[in-house]
Amino acid sequence: MASFLAHYIELETSEHLYRQLVEKSPDGIMVEKDGELIYTNPAIRDLYGRETNLIGEKVTDIVLPSEKSHLYKDSTAVKQNTAEKKLIQADGSALPIETIEKPLLYKGEQATQIMIRDITYRKQMEEFINQSEKLSVAGQLAAGVAHEIRNPLTGIKGFLQLLKATTNEHHSYYDVMMSEVERINEIVNEFLYLAKPEVYKIEKHDILDLINEVIMLLNTQAILNNQQIVTNFSLDLPKITCESNQIKQVLINIIKNAMEVMSEGGEIYITVEKSEHNLKLIVCDEGKGIPKERLVHLGEPFYTTKEKGTGLGLMISRKIIEEHSGTLSFASVVNKGTSVTILLPIH
Ligand SMILES: Nc1ncnc2c1ncn2[C@@H]1O[C@H](COP(=O)(O)OP(=O)(O)O)[C@@H](O)[C@H]1O
Ligand SMILES: [Mg+2]
Repeated sequence: MASFLAHYIELETSEHLYRQLVEKSPDGIMVEKDGELIYTNPAIRDLYGRETNLIGEKVTDIVLPSEKSHLYKDSTAVKQNTAEKKLIQADGSALPIETIEKPLLYKGEQATQIMIRDITYRKQMEEFINQSEKLSVAGQLAAGVAHEIRNPLTGIKGFLQLLKATTNEHHSYYDVMMSEVERINEIVNEFLYLAKPEVYKIEKHDILDLINEVIMLLNTQAILNNQQIVTNFSLDLPKITCESNQIKQVLINIIKNAMEVMSEGGEIYITVEKSEHNLKLIVCDEGKGIPKERLVHLGEPFYTTKEKGTGLGLMISRKIIEEHSGTLSFASVVNKGTSVTILLPIH
């Protein structure tokens, strides 16, 4: 009698243990028989976002139709079937899951055990890797194509100039053609800049020198546009470690944007100051500003609102600043102006 009791207790304990394993499992476990669910563990309820268990429901109703899979009818089969599917949650949203289906004898009858795992994170990672691969392949292709385009362009431009010089007719057509060729050239150059493996020279530079060089470059155009570039630099600014041509490229892109948005003239303010462990550079314009819903698109490739824009300037600028462990941000008030802030770490 005593041994029977001991045996019974042992059985109870092990039954309890196994039940715990299934009930506390973070993966969903359910058993299906003839298309209907006859057992579901608590994790299934969480995955589906339901209050009650799903016993009695049809498997085909809770897995997205396009991804329904064949369920085993033969319990002697040892094969298991793994698939990626989506399950429909209580609020109607689709959750990416992995299912493992295996034939099972449940209370002496043929059934299918289905394990369900939430693979949202894995899917996001896969998507991310896919996207980066696509981008880098696209970048390499674009650089190759851009390079090939540049030489024929030079030829076309030269002969257009020649043709124009030999005739008195259609001069305006030649001008349009040449300015369009110039535009292609600009796009190609920006692309090449983005992809070409440059020999970088990282050195310590006084940012004010770089800014002054850029202003010198752009000032003639600014004066023609009736614009004034006003600077306000703090004293005793530390030098920053950077690739000077790249930082100048960023400054040109940003100041040119400011100039392009102030067709009626006005002032462009450039301030530089120290802010904790960063150098803070702000370029402010008095242009038409950027509506809030458009701010988020700044820096996306090919995002431009200009007839002759490339939509690459800010993307390249952001890339460069991030490579320097800095940040690029925008603030804007419609009809008042825009301010672009660059933070660069002081090493
Ligand atoms: N200072 C600014 N004021 C208003 N809009 C701006 C400013 N700078 C950039 N933008 C907006 O961001 C877009 C993208 O700029 P950018 O990447 O330099 O490309 P592009 O100048 O060729 O259009 C511009 O077309 C414009 O709509
Ligand atoms: Mg631009």
